[in-house]
Amino acid sequence: MQEFVIRGGRPLHGTVRANGAKNAALPIMAASMLAEGTTVLHRVPRLSDVETMGAILRALGVALRWRDRHAVELRSTGTDVTVAPRELVRRMRASVCLLGPLLATRGAATLPLPGGCVIGDRPIDLHLKGLRALGASIREDEHQVYARAPALRGTTVPMAGPRGSTVLGTANVMMAACLAEGTTVIEHAACEPEVQDLARFLTACGAEISGIGTRTLTITGREHLEGCEHTLIPDRIEAGTYLIAGAITGGKVSVEGLRPGHMQATVHAMEQMGIEFGRDEDTLWAGRRSPLCAADITTYPYPGLPTDMQPQLSTLLALAEGTSTVTEGVYPDRFTHVAPLRRMGARMVRKGSRMIVRGVGRLSGARVKATDLRAGAALVLAGLVGEGVTTVQGVDQIDRGYEDLEDVLGNLGADISRRDAEWAAPARLPADGQRVRRSA
Ligand code: EPZ
Repeated sequence: MQEFVIRGGRPLHGTVRANGAKNAALPIMAASMLAEGTTVLHRVPRLSDVETMGAILRALGVALRWRDRHAVELRSTGTDVTVAPRELVRRMRASVCLLGPLLATRGAATLPLPGGCVIGDRPIDLHLKGLRALGASIREDEHQVYARAPALRGTTVPMAGPRGSTVLGTANVMMAACLAEGTTVIEHAACEPEVQDLARFLTACGAEISGIGTRTLTITGREHLEGCEHTLIPDRIEAGTYLIAGAITGGKVSVEGLRPGHMQATVHAMEQMGIEFGRDEDTLWAGRRSPLCAADITTYPYPGLPTDMQPQLSTLLALAEGTSTVTEGVYPDRFTHVAPLRRMGARMVRKGSRMIVRGVGRLSGARVKATDLRAGAALVLAGLVGEGVTTVQGVDQIDRGYEDLEDVLGNLGADISRRDAEWAAPARLPADGQRVRRSA
């Protein structure tokens, strides 16, 4: 296991170029299976989740080759493998978006149930309901999903769930519908920018999709799709994280190559906290001239405040003067960042899907552990302002969604390094009080 070692207190200044969006890359890589011939994707972030998706696709008979650091070539070789490798699928919930392409092209899919997730319940009932509506017969046991679909037929598919729509559920049904017979109407579709990017990729492959960006997608099935060349949208969550890094440290960070229109809710939340923004057509910069002020934030499906920004924004609120509230409208249990932030001096009290944050004047460095991707980002942000040294273990979680994070932050002036963890984070000390020493 690796850890970041951060010495806090240095304001960050400079410019970062946004990478391509992880949450567009993963479904679009899976969608390449729907197309004959070669697909080339540009601006693909080099993340462990992308490497995992690539390994799964190779195991499913897709020829995959990196043309350069951020461009990947995929060509489905038409094998009839329909069983995804368990040890890879279990690493990443996003593997679930292989169901649609496998059913549409090979008529079957056996997929281990996605791994548990510390951010809360991650059901796939809406995925299965949508695919069943298209004609798939799907059986599940406690370990796997067994889906069969000799033919898929278009129909009306409602995708609304208890907390709005489902991003990857919409992706799965949209991908399957592209090769189904007849027309499919997805009602209450997710309209996140990443879902829109997937729809545009499929359209470039020859799919017939209307209503992109709205809650109603109409897909007319085609006989086949042709591979194409596509550049991914920028990652609005990575970009938001770097903007917070500048604001929280009292510096000024610009992120270029982004889509400001995808980040309005995040910008609005940060402006409520007293952070000032400048903007050009594809650039935002954030800084502040006054202390952070308290705010009440709630996460929602797009275009609302993204749940993937909540942990990072919570770190900002920990230092905001006054009392704030954070309400999770998507993942009610997404508060794994609270305990380690409290160990750094934050005053946070969770009550169900809500959290009360009483701002403190400072945070103190500590040894903490990232349990998931965005919680890890929140702890790194806290370390950038924490007095003294913060060690963030579980860097493998952070590597899932941030490319070369320590280099990017270091180039902005942060004192951060990566090393092999020497000591286990004291989740709980053994009876004799001796720390558990890991082999290097
Ligand atoms: C995507 O996950 C993202 N992942 C998540 O980002 C993101 O947090 C989430 O959308 C919400 O925006 C990828 O795109 C790879 P959902 P997804 O299905 O599609 C409920 C990150 O950090 N639900 O939209 O799996 C579910 O419980 C990751 O980059 C059902 O009830 O999320 C949740 O409350 C974390 N039944 C809500 O819908 C279902 O069948 C939204 O989940 C599916 C979902």
